[in-house]
Amino acid sequence: MTTALTQSLYVVAAVLFIVGLKRMSHPRTALQGNLLGVAGMTLAIVVALFQQDDYWSVAIGLLIGAIVGIGIATRVKLTDMPQMVALFNGFGGAASVLVAAAALLHGKAETVDSRTAIGVAGIIGAITFWGSLVAFGKLQELELFKQPIEFPHKQLANVITAVAMLVLAILLAVLDPFWGWVFVPIVLLASVIGVLIVNPIGEADMPVVIALLNSYSGLAAAATGFVITNHVLVIGGSLVGAAGIILTRLMCKTMNRSLTNVLFGSMDGKEYSTEDGIYDNLQITTAENVALMLEAAQRVVFVPGYGMAVAQAQHAARNLAKLLEAQQITVEYAIHPVAGRMHGHMNVLLAEADVPYDQLIEMDRINPMMDNVDVAIVLGANDVVNPVARTDPHSPIGGMSIIDVDKARIVIVIKRSLSPGFANIPNPLFAEPNTWMLFGDAEQAVLDITTAFSDA
Ligand code: TAP
Repeated sequence: MTTALTQSLYVVAAVLFIVGLKRMSHPRTALQGNLLGVAGMTLAIVVALFQQDDYWSVAIGLLIGAIVGIGIATRVKLTDMPQMVALFNGFGGAASVLVAAAALLHGKAETVDSRTAIGVAGIIGAITFWGSLVAFGKLQELELFKQPIEFPHKQLANVITAVAMLVLAILLAVLDPFWGWVFVPIVLLASVIGVLIVNPIGEADMPVVIALLNSYSGLAAAATGFVITNHVLVIGGSLVGAAGIILTRLMCKTMNRSLTNVLFGSMDGKEYSTEDGIYDNLQITTAENVALMLEAAQRVVFVPGYGMAVAQAQHAARNLAKLLEAQQITVEYAIHPVAGRMHGHMNVLLAEADVPYDQLIEMDRINPMMDNVDVAIVLGANDVVNPVARTDPHSPIGGMSIIDVDKARIVIVIKRSLSPGFANIPNPLFAEPNTWMLFGDAEQAVLDITTAFSDA
């Protein structure tokens, strides 16, 4: 394949990535956007294969990667998707480190430029890999990752580690003849930084961290593109890096936090999970009572959360909504940007249950209308409706915007117990005078309300 043809096909792949990304920005065109991205990546892989002298080793690598990827992706539960995304980000980082090491070993480090790219790929790749592994552990709620690593003069040690890593990277780039071995301590120091950066971050800030690590994995891939002089890798990596950083900014805005605050200010060790009698005035209701409340309503809003995903209650909710609509009751779904465990989690589930897109109302649009809502049904959500976010700036979710369900006339909270949500803090909403708790599995509870509503 001639160089001109190779470069032209890479441009086609890059255009497919960009158009695909654009189309992913709306649910209606997202599937098509995804397919365009897949087409671009397939084209890039095929063209890259033609550049190789040794097809077999690349084909074997592809086969192993495909088997592992398909195996994980087809088995993972939708509720565990963030862990999978964290692992895949991490694998991207590890691949960058390995490619950079291979370039060093195979004499592709003759110039300052190439050695700079090798150092950058090693640093960002190792930070991404270890940071993502820690993020995976936190999302999986593994005990080992729950406590922050503490030791005297930690911040000073972090700074010394970062400076030592950068000095070694500069030495790798500029010394002639170069010291290839310094790549090893560079990667080790970057690994320590990856662990120490992500370890102290509080659970409630994990959506921001996942977006940031996603961005890093793109930057690591872009640096690898410079190492092996592959333009499509530089473009693809830069797109992931830029998209990830935009998402990180949006997430920070949603959580009302600066990135510095997320990375260096959270998890102060304070215990927030004591209930301090806040549930003394709890009101518990039944499916039959909820059906009566719904009969008298004109406007009902479902507020889905992680519990809806666990119970797979979206189909039952949609069926109940159809019954309500048949009685001229307006039904909407309030979507919080970090509800569930991944970006767009609720949108995906509700789309799967054929909920019309125009009934999905983003938090910023629904909140000003909340005091006109007759019944808000909180379906397995907790942190995203917790008023503590407004009242206690020091809580793990302090400052995060929430769906203001407490402003609705009646709030029904459907969950199995009084257990806290992901941020592990109590929720005073449950004991508000206009709140009624309906304890049970989200799907079963909605089915019971549906039966009671149909029988009434
Ligand atoms: P959470 O605050 O995690 O609360 C979910 C609630 O669902 C729990 O209190 C649980 O209570 C209930 N639940 C679980 N299984 C249920 C079932 N089968 N039936 C009924 N209820 C069930 O969820 P949220 O309000 O969606 O908030 C999301 C949280 O995750 C935020 O803190 C966010 O920062 C964090 N997070 C989000 C993301 C993204 S990007 N979305 C990524 C990582 C972390 P019971 O056990 O009592 O039933």
